Amino acid sequence: MNIQYDKEHRIFQLDTGNSCYLIGIADEEGFLGHVYYGPKIADTDLAYLMRTEEHPFLPSGNDRERGSFLDSFPFEFPGNNVGDYRESAVEVKDCRGNSAVLFTYRSHKIFRGKPMPEGLPATFGDEENSMTLLIELADEVLGLKAELYYSVFADCDAIARSVRICNCSQEEIALEKIMSVSLDMDDDDYRMLVLHGSWARERQMEYRGIGHGKQSVGSVRGESSHQEHPFFALAANGATQEQGEVYGFHFIYSGNFLGQVEKSQYDSLRVSLGIHPANFSWILAPGGSFHAPEAVMVYSDRGLGGMTRTFHDLYRNHLIRSSYRMKKRPVLINNWEATYFDFDDEKLLSIAKEAAALGIELFVMDDGWFGRRNDDSSSLGDWTVNEEKIRGGLPHLVEEVNRLGMEFGIWFEPEMVSPDSDLYRQHPDWAIALPGRRPCRSRNQYVLDLSRPEAADHVYESVARILKSANITYLKWDMNRQLTDLGSAFLDGKHQGELMHRYVLALYRLQERLVREFPDLLLENCSGGGARFDPGMLYYSPQIWCSDDTDAVERLTIQEGTALLYPLSSIGAHVSACPNHTVGRVTPFASRGHVALAGTFGYELDVTALSGEEKAQIPEQIALYHQYQGLIQSGDYYRIASYRENHSFDCYEVAAKDGSEALVTYVQVLAEPNRRSRRIKIPGLDPKKRYRIEGQERSYSGSALAHAGILIANRPGDFRSELIHIIEADD
Ligand code: GLA
Repeated sequence: MNIQYDKEHRIFQLDTGNSCYLIGIADEEGFLGHVYYGPKIADTDLAYLMRTEEHPFLPSGNDRERGSFLDSFPFEFPGNNVGDYRESAVEVKDCRGNSAVLFTYRSHKIFRGKPMPEGLPATFGDEENSMTLLIELADEVLGLKAELYYSVFADCDAIARSVRICNCSQEEIALEKIMSVSLDMDDDDYRMLVLHGSWARERQMEYRGIGHGKQSVGSVRGESSHQEHPFFALAANGATQEQGEVYGFHFIYSGNFLGQVEKSQYDSLRVSLGIHPANFSWILAPGGSFHAPEAVMVYSDRGLGGMTRTFHDLYRNHLIRSSYRMKKRPVLINNWEATYFDFDDEKLLSIAKEAAALGIELFVMDDGWFGRRNDDSSSLGDWTVNEEKIRGGLPHLVEEVNRLGMEFGIWFEPEMVSPDSDLYRQHPDWAIALPGRRPCRSRNQYVLDLSRPEAADHVYESVARILKSANITYLKWDMNRQLTDLGSAFLDGKHQGELMHRYVLALYRLQERLVREFPDLLLENCSGGGARFDPGMLYYSPQIWCSDDTDAVERLTIQEGTALLYPLSSIGAHVSACPNHTVGRVTPFASRGHVALAGTFGYELDVTALSGEEKAQIPEQIALYHQYQGLIQSGDYYRIASYRENHSFDCYEVAAKDGSEALVTYVQVLAEPNRRSRRIKIPGLDPKKRYRIEGQERSYSGSALAHAGILIANRPGDFRSELIHIIEADD
């Protein structure tokens, strides 16, 4: 890792272990341009890549064609309405209603460590393992300053970027758009990889070609969403899992986003990623500033797998803060699919008793324990225990569960209010709604206007009061509807455009308060399944519920898309009952266990209703979890084959970083008639070491495993899975 400035050529050079990023200052006006991003190179004398020398239109030499220059220069932070017609990174409206802005270079600083954007989740680093470049730009006409932050890390090939805009003028200025990443590069025949989805179908990988004009992903739903993900990658045509160039871009934010690639008339690409400009506006008072959320860029010349492993390391080492980060998470059982709303203390305790006897360590009481909530039509906001269901109160139930030797966890949906609730009857103006319009219900509920401090405080107090009332060690923070009808009775007309971002900031404040006051709490975020599985939430909770679809086969694809970016230790995954409640499929209990092992591992079923044969497998599965969780939590993830692509089988591996062992999961989803055994190559081990497969006599070299592979027998039956444990051999 290093950052330096080549004064002679006016080039900044950011080096990670294997990648390099160059930024240049061009012409007398100080236009900041992108020079290079890719494998490490020795030279910094590469300003010619900005094409300023061959360019007949450089303003200092040929101001007659200034427009041609501005519309083709590879701006690092492009402005708006001053001659560059491509996607801008920033737009403003000044007090006269004009919207032009153009930032040019003023100064810079290079320092060890990494500053954190205030009130926002972001990657962290100390003086030993990170370095930062801060470039200050200015628009003198408006009196605006832009601070561009770039940080690199000693242990991973990632660059974190963020932008702060400061109003140094005497007038109010509205910030109408701000992208955290803008990057201009030549098109070298890339495909765009995105993650799309829906409820129960989150994070499906999809490749798109890149045509002229704009192609984008985004959310205007107030959360990162089921539908699209604040991520995209540019993958060189032909790049595979382990070969080829890939640039990944990921936004550390949980609200609206826009990610876009624009191919220009000259075949260059402009990459943008930031807060979605739709319904966004932020008033910058004189002296005021706005820090746009951080985004991360990862370059890999080892295919998608290289990108994946960099994101995993970055998030494990520089984003997840919880004390549970590298700690074993308790095996949990959640009653949602077991009972839905139909439970009482007796039913819960009967599940807990059976679960404890089988070795399950944490009991989680899901939705339905508060107010008068027996279905989804009421009571969100009324966070008092329903003592008709939980007789004897919460402390009593928790004590009973603790007495069984289990920890106790609880579900909340703090950001919501039911129209049929005491909270809504007392404070109808606390819900997000537009004057004169009937607010849109979704799952029968409204979203609380968290920009209103007393509403946010009320939410916090409600959660904290329950947590303090009993020995609760786990909290599932859910969010079951998206935002629309954007109106706040708290904000005045001028500030209405701030609602969506203020909402996200308030959510972050709430979770920050929570993790500070309850540092030992295991927090799991959730949103109608996995609609808020994003790096922003990972800063507060070490694990996030991945999807309400717990079918083992569906999960293969959902978890593949999720693990493309997120460490397995963050992926909430449970064994549930069959026929599966979402798709009706029946899969072997053993396969459900194997698939859930590639996540936080737990159960979401009524153990008292299982067959003896299934029940008997639970202690065995838990033993597997205890055996492998350390490896799964800390190892390198390799995607060997994808059911999504081959429609037949799935295979992935976690290899220990020291090359001492690996765990391969193989799932033959659909039986294949008259097939011989399948050869599977196992990367990630030390080619010089020798290994044994648990249960077999012979040994293999790491190089044989990687290049020659092993054979997996073809056995009859759908949904067959096996775990292959490879351990270093003594000989
Ligand atoms: C969401 C969650 C589920 C469950 C229900 C409860 O759908 O994803 O796991 O908690 O809410 O209403």
